[in-house]
Amino acid sequence: MNFRFATQNDPAAIVSLFTSVFARSEGEAEGALIGQLARNLLAQTEESDLACFVAAEAEQILGAIAFSRLTFDPAIAAFILAPVAVRSDRQGQGIGQALIRYGLAELKHQGVSLVLTYGDPAFYSKVGFQAISPEQIIPPFALSQPEGWLGQSLSEAAIATYSGRCTCVAALSDPQYW
Ligand SMILES: CC(C)(COP(=O)(O)OP(=O)(O)OC[C@H]1O[C@@H](n2cnc3c(N)ncnc32)[C@H](O)[C@@H]1OP(=O)(O)O)[C@@H](O)C(=O)NCCC(=O)NCCS
Repeated sequence: MNFRFATQNDPAAIVSLFTSVFARSEGEAEGALIGQLARNLLAQTEESDLACFVAAEAEQILGAIAFSRLTFDPAIAAFILAPVAVRSDRQGQGIGQALIRYGLAELKHQGVSLVLTYGDPAFYSKVGFQAISPEQIIPPFALSQPEGWLGQSLSEAAIATYSGRCTCVAALSDPQYW
């Protein structure tokens, strides 16, 4: 298995992976929703605002992860991790954590200093995320589950408090994802 940047040949397989994995874990509607999110992220986001990686084995995509830019004023180099999935029959083998770590290392290499995500703290704390309050970093939309607002610094500095609301890319600009 290897980890690499997604290429222009990968979108269909990535969308299919997200659709099927989330359909299986959270139902058909969630599968369709996250599949659409992945499709929109890949089709609509400027190259400089998206970092998408895959775990692959013999041409087969086993896992995929997308990071997209969050914009702050004044500007900082920040991205949000969403979504990530590992093929249902290969979950629980360490692929998800390794893929997240690979993506974080690449972003750090590119000078990104802050990564946020919105998900299960029990899982994301395994790969360096910690809870942050919606007052410390005001999310783009009101959160239905504020305890899932998580972040990690990729620099030496601790996560600061930011006064203005950050904004996300168009594909994530929909309250139903928040
Ligand atoms: C979440 C996911 C990406 C993790 O990938 P994975 O390859 O299965 O995970 P790993 O094998 O690297 O890590 C497994 C560990 O994470 C835990 N874990 C996996 N999914 C979890 C979840 N949804 N919530 C909490 N913990 C979870 C496991 O209990 C396990 O813990 P352990 O190492 O202490 O035993 C994968 O299970 C998946 O695609 N799930 C469905 C889609 C999803 O929920 N995506 C995340 C939200 S965007």
